[in-house]
Amino acid sequence: MIVDIIAGTRPNFVKIASLFQAKEHHPIKQKINLRLVHTGQHFDHNMSASFFEDLGLPNPDINFGVSGGTHAEQTAQIMIAYETLLISKPSNLCIVVGDVNSTLACALVAKKMKIKVAHIEAGIRSNDMDMPEEINRMVTDSITDYFFTTTTWASNNLLHQGISNESVFMVGNTMIDTLINNQSKFKKPAFLQSLSITEKQYILLTLHRPSNVDDKENLIHVLETIANNTISPIIFPIHPRTKKILGDFSIFNNRLFLVEPLGYLEFLYLIKNAKAVVTDSGGITEEATFLNIPCMTLRTTTERPETVEIGTNELIGKNPMDLIPYFKKVDSGSWKKGKIPDFWDGNTAKRIWDVLNELL
Ligand code: UD1
Repeated sequence: MIVDIIAGTRPNFVKIASLFQAKEHHPIKQKINLRLVHTGQHFDHNMSASFFEDLGLPNPDINFGVSGGTHAEQTAQIMIAYETLLISKPSNLCIVVGDVNSTLACALVAKKMKIKVAHIEAGIRSNDMDMPEEINRMVTDSITDYFFTTTTWASNNLLHQGISNESVFMVGNTMIDTLINNQSKFKKPAFLQSLSITEKQYILLTLHRPSNVDDKENLIHVLETIANNTISPIIFPIHPRTKKILGDFSIFNNRLFLVEPLGYLEFLYLIKNAKAVVTDSGGITEEATFLNIPCMTLRTTTERPETVEIGTNELIGKNPMDLIPYFKKVDSGSWKKGKIPDFWDGNTAKRIWDVLNELL
């Protein structure tokens, strides 16, 4: 049996790594041939290949090499490439993860070719239709056959939509599996030493959402406000999208350190040893919650409310000035104590294979 697993972007690689690892020790190994399909959506070495190296992922069986373009161009090119693959070499199941354009494109193609679709990280919702990811989640879940969720809240979102209880499996979080599996290998980036920045002293910043970065003036305002309102050094690994927008912009504040995007093991070292994290990513709020690191999300909504209700995350909104009281909380050591959501225990991938072994 051929089972396709689709990955195109940096967070996808993190989410699928534990599935490969768990499959090696699972009876399903005798039954399936796992075909790794890389769409090419992320293609820079430090956005893609370095994750394969760090996470011990096998080389993709195929790479469509679709990169850049508008949403329609990217989605359409991935659809054409995946349909071509399925026509020549069909599969029995298509596993998609997360909410990126690659997820939506491949789910749509598989479903139309009568191939069952399994969606890992199904059911989460921000209810913010300005986010392309929310559209991707809704459309993917509307054609998914097997729903694997990270929380009971996500499962309930699906049940309220009328999806049958029998197709929804609350299994936990494969991204946290990957974190647990690699924790002993986290690697200190060399620049910490050369910049004389020590552990638990710095703020780790990531920004890549279109609503935060696509307007250059706003982006500069956000960076300046953050840098001018904390005494901590700020480490800002810069996403290619954000870098393109900033252009040749030279930095204005000697506490703000722009660095290239980092591999998985170095980036997770930085989260684990940060004083606090400021981000607009969703996955990072889960990792910060698991590692019990204060986390501030520069967005008005989250599709991961458990990171705020149970975890260490706070939803700040989009005005960077609103970070100031939260910086004070971090500095005074009075950040709320987080807990780890149920089933974020390192065994999610095994639970997914248990379910699929029964179903296939
Ligand atoms: C995508 C996902 C987003 C996810 C993010 C993780 C969609 C709609 N968005 O956003 O949900 O949180 O990945 O990083 O699928 N680029 C490079 N090199 C790369 C990757 C991207 O130069 O390796 C450039 C692209 O050419 C493009 C821009 O960065 O111009 C944005 O890339 P794209 O994959 O379209 O979206 P992301 O912003 O990365």
